[in-house]
Amino acid sequence: MTSKTPPSSQVLDRVLVLEMVRVTEAAAIAASSLIGRGDEKAADHAAVEAMREAFDELYMDGTVVIGEGERDEAPMLYIGEKVGGAPGGGPKIDIALDPLEGTTITAKAGPNALAVLAAAEEGCLLNAPDVYMEKLAIGPGYEPDVIDLDKSPTENVKSFAKAKGVAPNEVIVCVLDRPRHEALIAELRSIGCGIQLIPDGDVAGVIAVTDEDTTIDMYMGSGGAPEGVLAAAALRCVGGQFQGRLLFRNDDERARARKWGIEDLDKIYHLQDLAKGDCIFAATGVTNGSLLQGVKHLKGGRMTTESVVMRASSGTVRWIQGEHRKGPSPFG
Ligand code: FBP
Repeated sequence: MTSKTPPSSQVLDRVLVLEMVRVTEAAAIAASSLIGRGDEKAADHAAVEAMREAFDELYMDGTVVIGEGERDEAPMLYIGEKVGGAPGGGPKIDIALDPLEGTTITAKAGPNALAVLAAAEEGCLLNAPDVYMEKLAIGPGYEPDVIDLDKSPTENVKSFAKAKGVAPNEVIVCVLDRPRHEALIAELRSIGCGIQLIPDGDVAGVIAVTDEDTTIDMYMGSGGAPEGVLAAAALRCVGGQFQGRLLFRNDDERARARKWGIEDLDKIYHLQDLAKGDCIFAATGVTNGSLLQGVKHLKGGRMTTESVVMRASSGTVRWIQGEHRKGPSPFG
């Protein structure tokens, strides 16, 4: 029998889609024992180790394209690291990951910390350098020209408000609470917008625009570029619009971007530039948040998790409640 390359829709095998949740669950559970303990590094380390180990259970030939850093700065889940239990054999998959998105949140027991990953066929996720990215996002159901990163926040809010059929002062914008956003916040307040300031965790912040229950209409401001790719993968699955532009603070950051093959440093990235083709997004809540409930530690060593896994090609979104036990099952 000759071996065939599977059609692209099968590269991200259906089984693998569900298995990805095991990986984010493992990271979230590991980090959860450090919630509120004031130790960001320990929480991150626990999540990284658990995620690394869980990947080995998956039948895939995975490569980390967005990870914990470059090889010389991250011992595990570094960019370029091979993950998965079938190197050279299983489907070739690129992985963007953040075992603990919200290390400070976790250390302080704040909201919206997640274990998160995106997976796509080889070459389909932007190899984003670890620099800032200016981000602009809205939920699904709007014409493509409603937002434009080249326009001012006021122009974008007015355009969005018109499309939604509300006044600009009825629009709610989510923004990371940072001194660098002072001017943005002042401008949004001057037109009467509601601003939801988040302490950290802009993957959840961007995804919030896709969920009417959050009441958040738009996401604006700068955060990590790797987090931008992760959020874009989620929006590819559930709809919505996202535009991002890399921000460079110095020549060293520009050089890093060029090293990853980025020529046009001013490019505005749309969803398909960040995550193209079929892709999967999976997340498990570490602490309670707008997207997911966090890990709960219950009597008798039981733990519950809440996860979501989505796939772009089918548009399927699965919400998964897990119950886990420390040690062997008393029923097994
Ligand atoms: P970490 O999990 O790496 O701590 O990132 C949290 C986060 O808030 C991201 O969600 C966001 O993109 C980035 O940090 C913002 O960076 P900064 O804290 O430098 O403003």
